[in-house]
Amino acid sequence: MQIVILENSEAVAAHGAEVFIQKLQKKPNAVFGLATGSTPLALYKKLIEANQNKTVSFSDASSFNLDEYLGLSGQHPQSYRHFMQENLFNHIDIHRDNTHVPHGDAENPITACKEYDELITQKGGIDIQLLGIGRNGHIGFNEPSSGLSSRTRVKTLTHATIADNARFFAEGEFQPHLSITMGIGTIMDSRKVLLLATGSSKADAIYATVEGPLSASCPASALQMHQDVMLIIDEAAAEKLQHKEFYKHIERENQKLMASLK
Ligand code: F6R
Repeated sequence: MQIVILENSEAVAAHGAEVFIQKLQKKPNAVFGLATGSTPLALYKKLIEANQNKTVSFSDASSFNLDEYLGLSGQHPQSYRHFMQENLFNHIDIHRDNTHVPHGDAENPITACKEYDELITQKGGIDIQLLGIGRNGHIGFNEPSSGLSSRTRVKTLTHATIADNARFFAEGEFQPHLSITMGIGTIMDSRKVLLLATGSSKADAIYATVEGPLSASCPASALQMHQDVMLIIDEAAAEKLQHKEFYKHIERENQKLMASLK
């Protein structure tokens, strides 16, 4: 794992956006795996800026989102499709047909999940998968106890995740307890994984991901087995890491090495 520890959430977003921008400049038809939630919002703002000032174009790129609430159509204001339209897709030159979010209102969600994985394969696989992380270590909606080789499927949300996400729903509004999510195996197939975490509420999950055992109790710990993972986290999210200073030292050494190769 490459662990990049930065001062604050602004620096995390800037660093993450730069990874996307560089990929897009090298590979205009890149396939991105995207996430919703609070964490990627600042990164999406930077991608919008980069697109609007013509640093990059998304016109040949495509995307696959991690997850969607089961039971919500893409028009529903709390759906993840709606979230992506509002916070990214409507502001960049990506073609709507090239953006994919699982269909929460699919007639047969089980078939839809299988088709989602097949479509990712047909498009050549995901170049960079962006992830946030739940306080319980979930990635996508793969909650603790999710199979570490799982594929896209219907999953039940934990009470903790439902409570964490209740902030997005009005009082009395229907809040789904089920989701469609890429599986951990689906995420692991991505060529590169970028996990962002900010704030001390994520510190336990980051500790379990990096220094805990490989275990379905912390789904993100599966990333220990991925060959190209970059964690970009702020000081607060890194506060429980026992070897924090060593990770910073590795990064400084990496940068020196890269500079000497230029
Ligand atoms: C979102 C997703 C979730 C979030 C996680 C963190 O598509 O799959 O795993 O990344 O719940 O959410 P925030 O960023 O709101 O703390």
